[in-house]
Amino acid sequence: MKRRTLTQFLVEQQRKEDALPAQLRLLIEIVARACKGISHSVNKGALGGMLGSLDSENVQGEVQKKLDVLANEILLEANEWGGHLAAMASEEMETIHLIPNRYPKGEYLLLFDPIDGSSNIDVDLSVGTIFSVLTAPEEASGREVTEEDFLQSGRHQVAAGYAIYGPQTLLVLTVGTGVYEFALDREMGSWVMTEERMRIPAGKREFAINMSNQRHWAPAMRRYIDECLAGTTGPRGKNFNMRWTGSMVAEIHRILKSGGIFMYPWDSREPHKPGKLRLMYEANPMGFIMEQAGGMAIDANHRIMDIKPTALHQRVGVVMGERDEVEIVQKYHAEAASAA
Ligand code: AHG
Ligand code: MN
Ligand code: MN
Repeated sequence: MKRRTLTQFLVEQQRKEDALPAQLRLLIEIVARACKGISHSVNKGALGGMLGSLDSENVQGEVQKKLDVLANEILLEANEWGGHLAAMASEEMETIHLIPNRYPKGEYLLLFDPIDGSSNIDVDLSVGTIFSVLTAPEEASGREVTEEDFLQSGRHQVAAGYAIYGPQTLLVLTVGTGVYEFALDREMGSWVMTEERMRIPAGKREFAINMSNQRHWAPAMRRYIDECLAGTTGPRGKNFNMRWTGSMVAEIHRILKSGGIFMYPWDSREPHKPGKLRLMYEANPMGFIMEQAGGMAIDANHRIMDIKPTALHQRVGVVMGERDEVEIVQKYHAEAASAA
């Protein structure tokens, strides 16, 4: 069977569905190429001096791994010169990165989590790169974009995706016309389509949550998980399995391929923070992919992609995956709110 490459797919999208302006196509190709570079570095591991942490912390106060910083640099360098971007933002940078004046500028805004699941790097488990693409507001034309211009809700995303550096390196992409998966063919150096119009399979009965935080969750979240744990003897009347990898990319990829639900909800450890995960470069792109694959993505109460951000590194509670399960979590939160 002759498989389509990422380039072929993007050209077809541009022609057939009219969904893809040429500059956005270029952007996606460049991000995909940067992910090849990151994959190469991840694969080198200890032999390339890639493991371990630096002395620095990022804006979230998290210790940076060497690969966090390297992957960030790879993405910045790859995307600076193409003329397709107005600016970039990253988990690893406090504020936005404007395209230097020596290069032409475009209309797109690129956001990324260069390495997601950083704690997995040194123990050889899957990590990934997450990205989200927005368009600079019209009123920004003719001036430099600002952080404010990035603060758009997720429904304005024109593309989103992730690369997963696992047993295989894969790229999962949406431009709003379904979800597509590509595998990196290392001999050919190209991305080759391995699945199209992906749909989250229903009925998996598997949840992913960091159970060590159970005592800090809101009562509605505890109720949902307690009922899953009660299995056939509880109100759900069926047994549930559990998985937790510590890498959202791996979690979401498993759900896309085999079903289930992923949660990183608000908890009372830091009650003023709405959650751990970041809205603009983790929850929004993954929410876009989940919805495009027939799933649902909420913060426990509301659709994630409808949240109007107020800060670049804003955090959010996350509940996403199979629609039927996400709806139950939402219902329990609504019931708890109306009883209060
Ligand atoms: P990052 O490595 O980009 O900081 O993200 C890690 C995130 C996410 O990928 C994962 O689901 C979660 O943090 C794991 O958190 P715990 O260590 O609290 O389980
Ligand atoms: Mn992350
Ligand atoms: Mn990260």
